[in-house]
Amino acid sequence: MTSQFWAVVPAAGIGRRMEAAVPKQYLEVAGRTVLEHTLSALLDCDRLSRIIVVVAPEDPYWPALGFTHSRIDVGVGGVERCHSVLNGLRALPPDASPEDWVLVHDAARPCVSPEDIERLIARVIGVGGASGGLLGTPIGDTLKRVDHDGFVKDTVPRDGLWRALTPQMFRLKPLRDALDAACSAGKVPTDECQAMEWQGVPPPVMVEGASTNVKVTRGVDLHVVAQYLRHLPQ
Ligand code: CTP
Ligand code: MG
Repeated sequence: MTSQFWAVVPAAGIGRRMEAAVPKQYLEVAGRTVLEHTLSALLDCDRLSRIIVVVAPEDPYWPALGFTHSRIDVGVGGVERCHSVLNGLRALPPDASPEDWVLVHDAARPCVSPEDIERLIARVIGVGGASGGLLGTPIGDTLKRVDHDGFVKDTVPRDGLWRALTPQMFRLKPLRDALDAACSAGKVPTDECQAMEWQGVPPPVMVEGASTNVKVTRGVDLHVVAQYLRHLPQ
């Protein structure tokens, strides 16, 4: 049987660094909430069988959106992002097989393009032996290590350094095992890739994606994202 593709969208954060009245995924930008932009980009990928949106327990904003779709289900978030993703994996339908691929994509990345998602999938399934893969961009700026007083200590060579974006894509069972192992050990991986690295699996493949796939983190990011979204095909 051929593998299916699923998506999990962690959307259970509080957006502390955004310092807004509502969690950042519910802020409106270019006519819709950040989360709605994100979900519609994923829904444009016909290859994704279902999308699990993971929202905080008793989140009043998600039901208020009235966003329903036959390919969308809801999961309940946890303390850290990795717990939310794990809960999302547990909310996949029973017909999801251990070998199926799961794409985890931050709710806070509304500018992801369906083309980049397709390229990620094509590359990961086309490379023999990779445990999975993720979108990323090579670092272009010169990197400085700075001490606690704000003085430059040295220049860090940027060869081979990439920024990790999402989606990140792994097979269901190894990803669930990796996140389970991390959570049970009280460790908090920053992303799925790190949880997989801790398992010592064959290296995931890095796939270059658009640098416009930014994460809304602080207030200024919203202005940037608004510009990008206005120029994306609707
Ligand atoms: N997330 C989640 N569950 C958590 C924490 C984060 O589902 N317990 C989600 C966020 O909603 C976001 C994504 O993970 O879509 C990336 O996390 P981040 O950008 O750190 O969002 P927040 O944790 O909400 O922001 P902050 O760290 O500033 O509080
Ligand atoms: Mg966070």
